[in-house]
Amino acid sequence: MNMSPYICGILMCVAAASAVDVWNLQQLEAAKRGNDLTINVRDIFVPAGQTLNFEFVKPGTTIVFRGRVTFGYKEWRGPLIILKGRNLKIKGGAGHIFDGEGRRWWDGTGTNSGKIKPYMFYVQLADSSVRGLTIKNSPAHTFAINDCNHISINNVMIDNRDGNRFGGHNTDGFDVAKSHRVIIANSTIYNQDDCLAINSGTDITFQRNKCIGGHGIAVAVGGYQVNEARNIVIRGCRCIQTKYGVRIKTLLNGRGIVKGVNIENILLKDVTDAGLLIIGNYLNSGPKGEPTGGIPIEDLTVNNVRGNVLAKGTNINVLVANARNWHWSSNIQGGQRRLPCKGIPNGLRIPCG
Ligand SMILES: *[C@@H]1O[C@H](CO)[C@@H](O)[C@H](O)[C@H]1NC(C)=O
Repeated sequence: MNMSPYICGILMCVAAASAVDVWNLQQLEAAKRGNDLTINVRDIFVPAGQTLNFEFVKPGTTIVFRGRVTFGYKEWRGPLIILKGRNLKIKGGAGHIFDGEGRRWWDGTGTNSGKIKPYMFYVQLADSSVRGLTIKNSPAHTFAINDCNHISINNVMIDNRDGNRFGGHNTDGFDVAKSHRVIIANSTIYNQDDCLAINSGTDITFQRNKCIGGHGIAVAVGGYQVNEARNIVIRGCRCIQTKYGVRIKTLLNGRGIVKGVNIENILLKDVTDAGLLIIGNYLNSGPKGEPTGGIPIEDLTVNNVRGNVLAKGTNINVLVANARNWHWSSNIQGGQRRLPCKGIPNGLRIPCG
């Protein structure tokens, strides 16, 4: 339905942005071909095995979610939603929700085995913003951010708390790969895996976010198409009852680089396994042997990382090769289990254990 493009008063007419409401996938397809500057997405039910797909929305469009978005059940890899395009503004309206109803898929094994689980959002945007979305109970990973350039993601709530009781696993918050100039800020993530995992990209900022109950914040490089992460800022975040605080892990026998990571003003609260963990011998099955140094970690700054690790965990664990130019100031309490601190650049002191 199109509203009149003009609102006329007694003496004048002003151009008004026209808007269209969509209630199902057919109406969305029609809206993509139309000329409305705003697409209001109402209570959409997305049939099983289909994707709520915003690819080919015209640049300049604002997409506003206003109702409850739900999905039919099918074992498949997804994504459930595609946000792809240029110059888009994507917003959550009051009271809207994306309800993944993940419990239908959750079986404690995530994407490793068991039921095939769809991930939720595939994001491939340029010059765009995503703001104020509320997401509940992702079946698996929540945001896959790929090949993005110059985007901001703000004020997002990912609430996968139910997964703690009902077998949620691999419910990552934000996975970022091959992306440039990305800001993720002011968001809250309750989940059962990485809050943030950066696999590759440049100029990526993760700030003022709150990670609760999952695996914390990670830069994980190696084993992908692109194995370079540069100019990463992780700032002003809180990790609460997470497994780790902040990790940088590079793949054993991998090739690539991690250059320019700033980890600052991070508060850890009751972290269970390790406060800061920086390793160069990472494998999906767990760390193994001595780091091989093919993905060096250079220009690392840890500044004002504070808080506590529970007694059974590890305060700080560093095991790297070929590290260069690090700066370090942290004050983490607790974490009695000692793991090595090896490969630290000469002359630097780190309060390990
Ligand atoms: C996050 O919120 C703060 C405070 O409301 C605001 O100043 C800041 O611009 C937001 N961050 C981003 C990246 O928009």
